[in-house]
Amino acid sequence: MIKKVSVIGSGAVGSTLAFHLLRLNLKELTLVDTASDLARGVALDLEDTRAFFNFPTDIKAGGDFSLIKDSDIVVITAGVARKEGMSRLDLLKINANVAKEVSAEIKKYAKGAIVIAVTNPLDIITYIITRETGFARSKICGMGSSLDSARLLNIFSLSAGVSAASLEGFVFGLHNNEMIVSAQRLKVKGEPLENVLTPEKIEKLRQRTAMRGGEIVGLLKNRSASFAPSLSCFRLIEAIAYDKNEIIPVSVLLSGEYGLNGVCMGVPCLINASGVDRIIEIKLTTEEKEKIKKVKDTFAEIDKLL
Ligand code: 2OP
Repeated sequence: MIKKVSVIGSGAVGSTLAFHLLRLNLKELTLVDTASDLARGVALDLEDTRAFFNFPTDIKAGGDFSLIKDSDIVVITAGVARKEGMSRLDLLKINANVAKEVSAEIKKYAKGAIVIAVTNPLDIITYIITRETGFARSKICGMGSSLDSARLLNIFSLSAGVSAASLEGFVFGLHNNEMIVSAQRLKVKGEPLENVLTPEKIEKLRQRTAMRGGEIVGLLKNRSASFAPSLSCFRLIEAIAYDKNEIIPVSVLLSGEYGLNGVCMGVPCLINASGVDRIIEIKLTTEEKEKIKKVKDTFAEIDKLL
């Protein structure tokens, strides 16, 4: 069982995630933010829930990266978040530098850690961390497609009038507006969704899923979603902590899988105590294959900007 989780970045996602993590009864939970008072303030607020939850966890916080020493898991939420009118790619320059700096610190203090990226643009940040740390790809993943999948199930559940727990389906590809939301993969207890909703309705809902993050930023104006992203990350950490062998779509470095090399994107993976134990190669439809081909071009374009 894991003993120590460190969360880099104490903004909305980092602090909400830290709150969920109290449920794991860790030995230590560490919050690091270059705005050290922010990390300390969040930590004190979390500590004050001890009387309600009675957790044994030692909560540490500050601006010094040596605090992450010997973490089992490090989560990176640091960086600037999307604001209204910004694409996840607009964040690239600032957050790429943050990812490089944080990677160097992880390499120095937490060599054995499993690293989870949450910062956007998610797949690029996952790629940078994989490259900069030099860790095995099984130790690094990005949380994006599991959030998109949760959004898909919620949006379709409301429309079909069926509980999200009775729906099967997932999103994969890049965590951007081009994410692959395949209606063919949606099943209501094994029954194809086409039998429940019209193709027009399915297409609308598919688009709504892909734009959901943007829809939320548009309403919040100067920050992006935090509840579903932090819970999605918590579920991933739970799968690692309890060695669950759960299949969760995460962003990971591909080395030949799906015909791609040297790019990170969300694909279904077997998640357990060793991290990304295995990439599951699902059989793609012709439409999905076409969409995946574009990932290579997107990455090549971005590489030029880095
Ligand atoms: C989202 O999809 C910010 O990428 C995050 O809400």
